[in-house]
Amino acid sequence: MVVQRYAPADPGLALTDPALYTHGDPHAVWARLRRECPVSWHDEPGHEGFWAVTTYAEGLDVLADFRRFSSTRGTFLRPNLSDPFPGGGRMMTLTDPPRHGVLRGVLGRLFTPRASRSFQDRTKEVAHRLIGSVTDAGTCDFVNDVAARYPLAVTAELLGVAPDDVDRIASYTSTAADNIVDIDGSTAQQAHLEVLQYYAEVLEDRRSRPGDDVVSAFALAQAEGLDISDEEIILTCDNLVVAAGETTRQVTGAGLLALMDAPEQAEALRRGEISRRRAVEEMLRWSAPVNHIMRTALTDTEIAGAPIRAGQAVSVWLPSLNRDESVFERPMEFRLDRHPNRHASFGGGGHFCIGAPLARLMISALLDELVDERIEITLAGPPRRIPSYITGGLDRLPVTVTSR
Ligand code: HEM
Repeated sequence: MVVQRYAPADPGLALTDPALYTHGDPHAVWARLRRECPVSWHDEPGHEGFWAVTTYAEGLDVLADFRRFSSTRGTFLRPNLSDPFPGGGRMMTLTDPPRHGVLRGVLGRLFTPRASRSFQDRTKEVAHRLIGSVTDAGTCDFVNDVAARYPLAVTAELLGVAPDDVDRIASYTSTAADNIVDIDGSTAQQAHLEVLQYYAEVLEDRRSRPGDDVVSAFALAQAEGLDISDEEIILTCDNLVVAAGETTRQVTGAGLLALMDAPEQAEALRRGEISRRRAVEEMLRWSAPVNHIMRTALTDTEIAGAPIRAGQAVSVWLPSLNRDESVFERPMEFRLDRHPNRHASFGGGGHFCIGAPLARLMISALLDELVDERIEITLAGPPRRIPSYITGGLDRLPVTVTSR
């Protein structure tokens, strides 16, 4: 394979340009990269150079191979990649084996598919309540009024957040997630500090009153000798709350928009002609809210013939993997009954999303509400896309929800 330097003439084609995600067509850019240069080197304004992997097999190879590609230098592209990254090598997402296995083991019991099933009633109840609260209230912003509140309302207890604090933490985390838009933004930094402060208090509390949540699990493991500092526990919880909230909200927001664009499929789903399980997977494939994951090469190596040097950043573009023509039949079509559908939205390898069973459950319960025959949802204004090369999705989706 010939490796080309991908030097887009139009700055709107740069993968790290936020405008590509608000007004451009990132799927067209990724499709071109898959076709012309699946492993491409990017020199983009304001960023240190990086590799972009856009095809399925190569992308999953990178994610599966921790010996060649490390998570310890950060998992998202950022302007100054050579600056040390806080938490690198210590926080779960930012570790490689063997430390990664130890930290993941601490959370293992809380995140099994079986443990997730115990959330079934809660997901139904929260989904029903949230949709009920916006029905007949006139126009609402589905992203902020429903999708953003939903994941934390379901997972609060698991994440150590008290029911009364859910709204406050949800608003902190969505501001904190704006970090991805404005990396040095002071509002976002402030929000992060608030979440960290919150978790510092929860950690103190759980030492004397352990519960069935992630904070207690880490506190207990620490007391039993795990080499983890208070700060690392707190950062991991902060990371979890954002990881759970931002992603799930994007799948439900973008998923609803796709459903409104395909009313005949929504109707078939409602009539039970399409399986819920397949519909959930297609919503995940279609929305792929994590735009990319970064790894850093540990040795000189190659991917599909592209010469990678030790220390270079390698980014894997998950929405592009999900539209790889060699894996998915007619990938640009939203087809709720798609099968097989081995999408890459939850990543791959050892860091494969630990919350996947829970996320699937949440999306499924909300989907039940969205296609309920007793309500009708219509678009009430233009949706707005997020200006981010890290999280893909919508930050506004005006809809009217009425009873039929
Ligand atoms: C649709 C929703 C979700 C999507 C698309 C998603 C996506 C991802 C992806 C792509 C990764 C891999 C990151 C990497 O390789 O560096 C990941 C990891 C992770 N996710 Fe999710 N996620 C979702 C929901 C959740 C939920 C609900 C939780 C928790 C309640 C969660 C917790 C985590 C954690 C802790 C990790 C790190 C795992 C590790 O480093 O071993 N995610 N997620």
